[in-house]
Amino acid sequence: MAASKKIIAEVERLRNEINQHNYRYHTQDDPVISDAEFDHLFRDLKALEAQYPELISDVSPTQRAGAAPLSAFSQVVHEMPMLSLDNAFVEADVIEFDRRIRTRLESDEEVAYACEPKIDGVAVSLLYEEGKLVRGATRGDGTTGEDITQNVRTIESIPLQLMGKGYPDKLEVRGEAYFPRSAFREMNQRAQSRGEKEFANPRNAAAGTLRQLDSRLAAERKLAMFCYSVGLMEGGELPEKHSEILQSLAEWGLRVNPLVERAHGAVQCVEYYKGISGRRESLGYEIDGVVFKVDDIGLQQKLGMLTRTPRWAIAHKFPAEEGITRLNDVDFQVGRTGAITPVARLAPVKVGGVTISNATLHNMDEIARLGLVIGDTVIVQRAGDVIPKIVSVILEKRPAKTTAIALPQHCPACSSDILRGEGEVAARCTGGLSCGAQQKESIRHFSSRLALDIEGLGDKLVEQLVDEGLIENAADLYQLTEKQLVKLERMAPKSANNLLEALETSKETTLSRFIYALGIQEVGETTARSLAMHFGDLAGLLEADEELLQTISDVGAIVANKIHHFFQQKSNLAVIHSLLGHGLHWKKEETGVITSSLAGETWVLTGSLHSLTRNEAKARLQKLGVKVAGSVSRKTTCVVAGDATGSKLTKAQELGLKVIDEDELITLLEEYGA
Ligand code: IVH
Repeated sequence: MAASKKIIAEVERLRNEINQHNYRYHTQDDPVISDAEFDHLFRDLKALEAQYPELISDVSPTQRAGAAPLSAFSQVVHEMPMLSLDNAFVEADVIEFDRRIRTRLESDEEVAYACEPKIDGVAVSLLYEEGKLVRGATRGDGTTGEDITQNVRTIESIPLQLMGKGYPDKLEVRGEAYFPRSAFREMNQRAQSRGEKEFANPRNAAAGTLRQLDSRLAAERKLAMFCYSVGLMEGGELPEKHSEILQSLAEWGLRVNPLVERAHGAVQCVEYYKGISGRRESLGYEIDGVVFKVDDIGLQQKLGMLTRTPRWAIAHKFPAEEGITRLNDVDFQVGRTGAITPVARLAPVKVGGVTISNATLHNMDEIARLGLVIGDTVIVQRAGDVIPKIVSVILEKRPAKTTAIALPQHCPACSSDILRGEGEVAARCTGGLSCGAQQKESIRHFSSRLALDIEGLGDKLVEQLVDEGLIENAADLYQLTEKQLVKLERMAPKSANNLLEALETSKETTLSRFIYALGIQEVGETTARSLAMHFGDLAGLLEADEELLQTISDVGAIVANKIHHFFQQKSNLAVIHSLLGHGLHWKKEETGVITSSLAGETWVLTGSLHSLTRNEAKARLQKLGVKVAGSVSRKTTCVVAGDATGSKLTKAQELGLKVIDEDELITLLEEYGA
């Protein structure tokens, strides 16, 4: 039955009401109804939408996490680059910043600044068209980011539809997505209770969540966002002061930090910094400093910008927190690829409210650089919630009796020899996958969130499975039976079944996750994605030689060598085949190759390029499905001529082929988002 006018109006009323309450709750932090009342409205709307699906719209509050998981993010080229900020660390830097501005403006008048907390999260761009949220993107390298619309839609402080009137037709709002401390704690507690890996700090957690391909998972985590500027704007007008623009954003339902203030001159800026510093711990979110921005947009434009940072703004950062303690011992841990990492065991010390008893030392070079010996008194530093590090040794406090830190000759886990290759920073256990520690680490990596994301397979469980001799590699996971599992400590039949189910689910994956999960040295998530996009399937990757690998973006000579070497090892191939034999699969089109009208064409590059390397140009063209050939023939579709071209260009001209220059190539690549 078609929806009557009355029903349409009721749906509309419910949506407006829910949006209003969402706004009161998430943006204004001032709810006026109880959670139960809110749930009631929500249920009513859902019921009506279920009955009249034709009334469901993108901007309905019920549609925040409605989309199917993605296989990869597509790229977004920012029409206006997303800038970064210059830093001030001490008062004098702020005074100097203000002086520079006045000199440039040739004015002695006091400059008005907008002062804002610097949120320790992840920069996000939101694009609204006709008031409707149409795209969310990460900053990426400032020029190109990733399309994270699905995840952004799950953030309840981000309106799907702007409120009020007067917003421009096209409005790109920028801000920081972050984890409120409470949501971060809850999420880590949940992870801990499930035996899963915890996030190191709220910023990493926010970044990880925004890059989650399944928006339903993003929706479970309660991210929030503060908006702090406008990027692109068309078809409308904005006030002339930054602080007033923020007010407009707030009027349109966007969340703006309530601690924004105006200040006149450097002295007031520094006062603001001190004021916020004092309140830092009581805020519900992490900040790593404050930002001062010239308030007048006209003046901002006059001041202009440097390559990556505007001249009209600066971040006044809080000092990293430090403490003094004693180095009691150094342990050596074995990583996934056998790398031996020294870890400092410290006398517990409180730094910024957190007790620290371990610090990473990275490698033996770091120990040498610090000149560290056991027994030393050291300064430890903690920035945000990242793993603390030792910054220096207080030599005056060195006791008479100390012990030198020596790299062990044998692996603490499997007793194989430890070797340090020439020119390599890391020392490694030579035990390979026969080393229990490496087995455990590689299986942990395989099941980690960005890899196959096997829920319920926590560190402790992996440890038990390897120690009990039930598994030696990732492929063995898929042979586990309920009978074997229930014999383990703390493993009820229900958890055993859940794990088996999670293993089953993990079989449907993407090529890039699979490649990442293999744990090839130097192949992180990004490189794995480039490899997947380039090859489209595993066969091509397995056969690739180093030369071919080096044509792929992100892959240099060292990485190419590691990848090639990995696929030469019989033991690795055996694991891969076994995994495929257990039914791990991915869809071919899930490789993220960009569909373009250029697919299938043959191009030739000649002459020297300036803005990008030839390898890069090749890789980006290949991403669009273009075949890049070495010589010109009748089959060539297009020739890209850089400087100092030779016979290839002559031949192309003889054949009457299409020839473009580097600028045209770049424009084209950018148009296609390659
Ligand atoms: S303004 C042109 N304002 O800090 C200015 N950035 O270090 C661009 N950030 O990438 C940024 N809070 O992710 C601005 N109130 C704030 C901020 C802020 C956090 C982040 C932002 C930026 C980074 C620069």
